[in-house]
Amino acid sequence: MSNGEAAVAAWLAVIAAPTAFDKQMALEKVILPADGTIWDMPLLPDRPGRPANWQESILQPRRRRTLSHEPTRQRFLLAIHNIELSAIDLAVVGCLRGSGAPQVFHADFMRIARDEARHAQLLEAELTRRAIPLGSAGVHYRLWDTACACTDLGEHLVAIPRFLEARGLDVSAELLPRLATMDPPAHAVLSVIYHDEIIHVDIGTRWHRWWCAQQCIDPLLHFQTVVARHFPGQVPGPTPLDGPGRQKAGFDADEMAWLRRPDEHFAQH
Ligand SMILES: [Fe+2]
Ligand SMILES: [Fe+2]
Repeated sequence: MSNGEAAVAAWLAVIAAPTAFDKQMALEKVILPADGTIWDMPLLPDRPGRPANWQESILQPRRRRTLSHEPTRQRFLLAIHNIELSAIDLAVVGCLRGSGAPQVFHADFMRIARDEARHAQLLEAELTRRAIPLGSAGVHYRLWDTACACTDLGEHLVAIPRFLEARGLDVSAELLPRLATMDPPAHAVLSVIYHDEIIHVDIGTRWHRWWCAQQCIDPLLHFQTVVARHFPGQVPGPTPLDGPGRQKAGFDADEMAWLRRPDEHFAQH
């Protein structure tokens, strides 16, 4: 088995592993491919690995941001746990889409995957402390489906780290100040996640710029095109943008202006 084929098999094993702990163990077995190693993008499974007794739920979560009631916070923590578990799979899909990329690209996305496994396990500890069974609310695969719908690395970099994870920053920045007094243990976990997610979005920004330079594509125009394709009607989003967090994560003034007022700021070409 070549260097690239071995890495592909090891990444697919991470996706197939059922729990955050199992995914973390599988991540440790990945040997990073050398710079520029090429492979064929494998067929992704219809669903990533999850514990056998977990139920898929197609219900859209109710948008509740008050969190003043304990049951609402429990559902919220379960929802974040589902997101973090999915985020491990998504970072690995990023690696799989990076055929031909430098080794440091894969190191960056493996770092994200390991962070997401740690985030999921932090939430598992907190849910266990509250006697809430993992997966008890039903899980959705919308993030996985979005990653599968991307056709190349450039789309993945926009849709996953630069749109979905960046939107997570917006939600966290809005919630964290209120959570601090309402629920200090949940606040502690979400603060760790928020600061790591800034790094993830920044990794996405840097590699998106790199990918666009390789393809001789304007990054702003590409960002707008991919967001319009995968997330129609979702700009501007329901939550105010986290200006400081997004700035640290590499968003520039043009991107921020477009995300606030898409009709007035479409790239001119
Ligand atoms: Fe995370
Ligand atoms: Fe992340």
